[in-house]
Amino acid sequence: MPIDLLRFTTAGSVDDGKSTLIGRLLYDSKAIFEDQLEAVERASRNRGDAYVDLALLTDGLRAEREQGITIDVAYRYFATPRRKFIIADTPGHIQYTRNMVTGASTAELAIVLIDARKGVVTQSKRHGFLATLLQIPHLVVAVNKMDLVGYDQAVYARIVQEYREFAARLNTHDMVFIPISALHGDNIVEKSQHMPWYDGATLLHHLETVNVGTSRNIVDFRFPVQYVIRPNQDFRGYAGQVASGRIAPGDAVVALPSGLTSYVRTITTYDGEQAEAIVGDSVVITLEDEIDISRGDMLVRVRNLPHRANRIDATICWMSETPMNPNGAYLLQHTTRTVKALISEINYRIDVDTMHREPADTLQLNEIGRVQITTTEPLFFDAYRINRATGSFILIDPFTNNTVAAGMIRDRSRELSDVVEHEQPQRQMSPNVVWGEGGVTLEMRERLNGHRAAVLWLTGLSGSGKSTIARLLEKRLYSLGVHTLYLDGDNLRHGLNGDLSFGPADRKENIRRAAEVARIGYEHGSVVICTFISPYAADREFARSLLPHGRFFEIYVKCDLEVCKRRDPKGMYARALKGEIVDFTGVDAPYEEPVRPEMVVETDLHSADELVEQIVGQLLRAGVIRSPGSGDHA
Ligand code: ADX
Repeated sequence: MPIDLLRFTTAGSVDDGKSTLIGRLLYDSKAIFEDQLEAVERASRNRGDAYVDLALLTDGLRAEREQGITIDVAYRYFATPRRKFIIADTPGHIQYTRNMVTGASTAELAIVLIDARKGVVTQSKRHGFLATLLQIPHLVVAVNKMDLVGYDQAVYARIVQEYREFAARLNTHDMVFIPISALHGDNIVEKSQHMPWYDGATLLHHLETVNVGTSRNIVDFRFPVQYVIRPNQDFRGYAGQVASGRIAPGDAVVALPSGLTSYVRTITTYDGEQAEAIVGDSVVITLEDEIDISRGDMLVRVRNLPHRANRIDATICWMSETPMNPNGAYLLQHTTRTVKALISEINYRIDVDTMHREPADTLQLNEIGRVQITTTEPLFFDAYRINRATGSFILIDPFTNNTVAAGMIRDRSRELSDVVEHEQPQRQMSPNVVWGEGGVTLEMRERLNGHRAAVLWLTGLSGSGKSTIARLLEKRLYSLGVHTLYLDGDNLRHGLNGDLSFGPADRKENIRRAAEVARIGYEHGSVVICTFISPYAADREFARSLLPHGRFFEIYVKCDLEVCKRRDPKGMYARALKGEIVDFTGVDAPYEEPVRPEMVVETDLHSADELVEQIVGQLLRAGVIRSPGSGDHA
């Protein structure tokens, strides 16, 4: 029998009566639940447990609680014969906003408490707004402490009207108002004798009957690995909670970030092997193949992949007394993964009273704003709108370990290059100059050299191995009697290009000059080896355009960004990730992969020696150079 379960969360301002309400629900429902409780007790005893564990009834709680470790949120459980309930609750006097946000990514319903004496305050609006941002499908506005306003219908009606006017600007689908007194139990479980003018349902009745179960993503399989279980050499299982979708033994899966694929062998819970696992289930999955997977990795389906990006566009709610430090580093916890993060941009703050956007350079306690975040390692995510589990995250202060913000991913950040077409450099010419043809032609030089002239343009991320390969290649060509000229990005930036930065415009100029020099080298008969990150396709196209067809070889030095970061030969990534270097390719600046390079050499798969031979082989086949001992060339 499927468990009918409602997860909900409560929100209100200090002293609105949240604890009393929860206590009342727990207490009163226990009375009507007694029969069933006895049954659970019996079941627990039969299992040999010394205590009653209501969690026995529900899946996923253990994992959830563990995931919630840095989140000050406790889950409380209660049940009636109709339904089981989980309340995401924050103990003590911690901000209620936090309560709502952190407990909300699985909540189906939010109760916003309003103190009847105080009426609608900013905080009440904020919570309604957050509930819609969080896409909690059902909203209950509980007007509490009706006893303290003499159960006055007019007071209630005014609050309802004011809140409705505000909520008209929100995207709410289901909003219900209930006048209650948590302290006296009015309209909680029993209908109030004091408010005969109210003819709606009691709170519990509404909680029991509201139609739930539609908001969870059952399509996109996402399984963040919480930990690897390896009791002995023969068993390797991956434990975690299915964040969304479903999976069954035999299904093909791919592990991220490695990209390695396998098939699900078994799915196990404490009830034994299962025929499938669905969203919310806490399971242990074993695979057919031994592939390297660790905590924080994610299993998904090959044909249904999440996004991968270092820069995300998010709406966040700031939950700390200490305002956001726009230059500070935070830890970002997303599913079972924690990565370092920087706030790269604050776009705006939302005034919850007016719902207007306003400029901001920080966010204060409870403020909601839109930001761009850069992370040190890529995140595998979905937009929150599509997947609440893989679209939400929290920010943690690395020094205090406090949760300081909760966020919803809108999308990946748009890079400048996504928006502005990166223009190709143009050939420049000073006024009043005339091109002079030299007496010695390229053909004569090539005949003298015994090989053709060409430009080998090595492009790739910093740390991908461009210089290593170039140096080895140059030596190898030297041994073959080939005249070379080596242009290195770092070296040229010591002189000729020493005035240039790493912004898109200066990179364009960097490549323009380098390409012109490469062309001069070519005209003088050399095999010119160039190593520039040259991240923009348009710039590389410019370099290509300076040379005759067949003489320009774009060589993509391909290496996984993560590997480059690990190598980090000059310690640049580390500094870029700390924010000490800006516009760093692969961290906060884009790299446009070559679409049709003449060659691809993969430095994370092959040795530099092998790759140099690969390049030499191609130059031989293209007729640029000839193998020693073969006849005259040109
Ligand atoms: S390019 O993008 O304009 O082609 P180029 O190849 O000349 O870059 O220079 C890259 C070298 O400069 C890297 O090897 C790295 O050591 C250094 N560097 C310093 N700052 C940056 C940065 N912001 N982005 C990339 N490389 C940088």
